[in-house]
Amino acid sequence: MASAPSLILGIETSCDETAAAVVRDGRQVLSNIIASQHDLHREYGGVVPEIASRAHLERIDPVITAALKQAGVAMADIDAVAVGNRPGLVGSLIVGVSAAKAIAWATGKPLIGVDHVQAHLYAAALNLEPDAAPQYPALGLVVSGGHSSIFDVRSPLQMQSIGSTIDDAVGEAYDKAAVILDAGYPGGPKLDKLAQTGGAGRVEPLPRSLLDRDSLDFSFSGLKTALLYRVRGQPQGRGRDATFARSVADLSDAERADLAAAFQQAAIDTIFIKLRRAIDKLTSEGRPPRCVVIGGGVSANSALRARCNDLQAKAGLPVFVPPLVLCLDNAAMIAGLAHHRFVADQFDDMHLAAIATTGG
Ligand code: KG4
Ligand code: ZN
Repeated sequence: MASAPSLILGIETSCDETAAAVVRDGRQVLSNIIASQHDLHREYGGVVPEIASRAHLERIDPVITAALKQAGVAMADIDAVAVGNRPGLVGSLIVGVSAAKAIAWATGKPLIGVDHVQAHLYAAALNLEPDAAPQYPALGLVVSGGHSSIFDVRSPLQMQSIGSTIDDAVGEAYDKAAVILDAGYPGGPKLDKLAQTGGAGRVEPLPRSLLDRDSLDFSFSGLKTALLYRVRGQPQGRGRDATFARSVADLSDAERADLAAAFQQAAIDTIFIKLRRAIDKLTSEGRPPRCVVIGGGVSANSALRARCNDLQAKAGLPVFVPPLVLCLDNAAMIAGLAHHRFVADQFDDMHLAAIATTGG
């Protein structure tokens, strides 16, 4: 791990969390402020981009001020300002990027743009002593609302995707499953909670889409559709005109909980089957990973966290999952990862763009 000292202010606004944090030396989280917008989007059942950008605009200044205050530092003490500038909702990203540029321009501090997905994979390394931190090469898994991807991770800033979703991201599938089961908003955590009160064994298992025998890609849309039909029955007719025999209101609470548990078991099983495949593949190619690093909103999932111990024991590799507060979108992971660009003198200028897609 890069060892030069740094004190970095991080900013994150890629989706519906306005966040700022101060991190020392890429490791020690001095503050981590997250203003969530769930209340604003709940009535629409999902994130409304225009509402998200406007809320970021209102909150970004107080959130940054709170992050400096909680860390007990002044802007003058900061060595660089970092911002997640890709991927995400472009109108949301622009707010964070503009704030970071304004601070950099007004104070003369260096500016560092950070990839949000790479930052999720760095979250598990925060607050650990260097000898307890992930060692590279590592196998990385990002499971969030926008991504389900497996990476061959060479260093915090160098990684190659070796598998990704061909349709829905797993978090997106959770959010849709929560709507199908009327589990509440935000969908992922609500479905996780409902699943914990049910028993997957009490209903017929839902399908695990594994694709080809060697594939490291994911597909979750079949699981989501299978759940929909299990709740409502097979559709009569096609497309928009399709009608269903039942609705979720016809299910008892216990039936909803059992189906949530079956969904959770199928989704998490699929993830761990792919992780095992990826470890075996890299090992057989002479590139065995030294550990597994997991990040993204779905790494807050109770079933996923429980399965990590099992993977650690069976694969004989340390498995790193961030503490809950660092699983969801946050700016500590942005400031932490930016340290590695800071020590390598890799800075951005006022042309830093907000980019909606990875690699765009
Ligand atoms: O990383 P994140 O905050 O934002 C993105 O980069 O997408 O991830 C948000 C996603 C949402 O889809 C949310 O439903 C899901 O993570 N999520 C969960 C849980 N907590 C959050 N999914 C399953 N179980 C959870 N406990
Ligand atoms: Zn995220």
